[in-house]
Amino acid sequence: MSTLLNLDNVCFSYPHCQPILNNCNFSIGDQRIGLIGSNGSGKTTLLKILVGLLKPQQGRLFHQGSEVTSERDYRKLRKNLGFLFQNSNDQLFSPTVIEDIAFGPLNMGLTQDQARERSLQILKKLDILSLQDQITHRLSGGEKKLVALATVLVMNPRLLLLDEPTNNLDPETREKLTAILRDLEIARIIISHDWDFLTETTDELYSIEHGHLHQCKDGHVHVHQHVHEHGDKPHHHS
Ligand SMILES: Nc1ncnc2c1ncn2[C@@H]1O[C@H](COP(=O)(O)OP(=O)(O)OP(=O)(O)O)[C@@H](O)[C@H]1O
Ligand SMILES: [Mg+2]
Repeated sequence: MSTLLNLDNVCFSYPHCQPILNNCNFSIGDQRIGLIGSNGSGKTTLLKILVGLLKPQQGRLFHQGSEVTSERDYRKLRKNLGFLFQNSNDQLFSPTVIEDIAFGPLNMGLTQDQARERSLQILKKLDILSLQDQITHRLSGGEKKLVALATVLVMNPRLLLLDEPTNNLDPETREKLTAILRDLEIARIIISHDWDFLTETTDELYSIEHGHLHQCKDGHVHVHQHVHEHGDKPHHHS
């Protein structure tokens, strides 16, 4: 396995705040990694460092073995990455869904027809073809999440960085997304608080606690039983 990205002793803090990341070391090639940690522990911050939206104050980021320092290095790095933002409103900016999805491919130099064709394929794959002409900012939260994912997948990235992809999704859509990600042969780092989803879509787990990033190596088997006292609608838990 060749390493795509690695972090060497990275430290990060926001101005006038306690450190968020302390001497983090990490590397990823073609693995499927889940990332957990409590709210505010620094998960999103870590992804933003990997994609170059934030720069480490100490330590180094490497892409395919070379240190990433210049804007040119970052541009090259981003071509390999597909980053799904925690908040889809940060990701969608075109008037209609199809324009949002075709934006990246057009930017890459594809013709209008090629970009449209590729965008429609992704919409079909995610089972949201019916949204193609919708006004993006009027979509529901879950619909926005799927459209944002389409803007990422249409670029054929080598590594997916997904920040809480199942947020706002109803159980059926969550299942659909789980199946899609389970079957996609793309390396990934997925942030989620949804253990069952991570079990299906990733093979390794990392956790951030008190600024430290570490791999969780041991499995933990347990069984849940619970009752919904306020509703008798039949439903499934995955
Ligand atoms: N731009 C910023 N300026 C100052 N502090 C920030 C900024 N962005 C995030 N923080 C703080 O840094 C900490 C880590 O934020 P981050 O978004 O990385 O957490 P997270 O682990 O992704 O949390 P969540 O599970 O809630 O999404 C939080 O305490 C947050 O308030
Ligand atoms: Mg976050």
